[in-house]
Amino acid sequence: MSRLRVGVLISGRGSNLQALIDACVDPLYPAEIVLVISDRAEAPGLERAAAAGIPAAVIPHRDRHALAEKAEVLLRAQRVEFVCLAGFMRVLDTALVEAWRDRMINIHPSLLPAFRGLHAQRQALAAGVRFAGCTVHFVRPELDCGPIVAQAVVPVLPGDNEALLSTRILEIEHRLYPLALRLIAEGRTRVVGDRVEIDGALAPEMVVLNPEGAAGELLASTAG
Ligand code: GRF
Repeated sequence: MSRLRVGVLISGRGSNLQALIDACVDPLYPAEIVLVISDRAEAPGLERAAAAGIPAAVIPHRDRHALAEKAEVLLRAQRVEFVCLAGFMRVLDTALVEAWRDRMINIHPSLLPAFRGLHAQRQALAAGVRFAGCTVHFVRPELDCGPIVAQAVVPVLPGDNEALLSTRILEIEHRLYPLALRLIAEGRTRVVGDRVEIDGALAPEMVVLNPEGAAGELLASTAG
């Protein structure tokens, strides 16, 4: 089986990178990470790449264009076929985004198109939404825009703060990102206009209310 050759761009902690690394350990997983690029030399994610024996490079962010040019050279040298942004905190050069159109995805900690940009979890709490989550989407030049591949939902709980909600969302990010990349690497996704079609995708048939009923009885039920 030939695996999709993936490059991952990070800026920091790299826990989503780790989730992808862990998924790729399975020889049946249809993708492999062949390059990690960070714009920050002190990004802890670089240690994760080193521990996994993945080639890594630092491209300090001087300007958008220079970063894009250097990234292109490295991606080509490693024969990267697909790019995952995993906590990459820079706005990418439009030319780079267009060059990788439909071959680059990002994970964002909100149910897009709500709460684009920084501090998505804080924005969700401020808006008083009852559900939050994360989204994997193809990258477009506009920030946190692009056809949606997959989403995962968590409830907002009474007494939540930004740290608690962020942790709850991050746990499902680590499940969602490997799933989304798998679907793509298996060749099951097609971008059609602004939407993504997925062959054989099963959606969960459930409805969840938040808050639940007064007595706390389960109000989840089968849709229909
Ligand atoms: C994640 O919440 C991701 O959704 C957002 O940045 C954060 C990166 O975390 N884009 P990590 O570096 O993967 O731990």
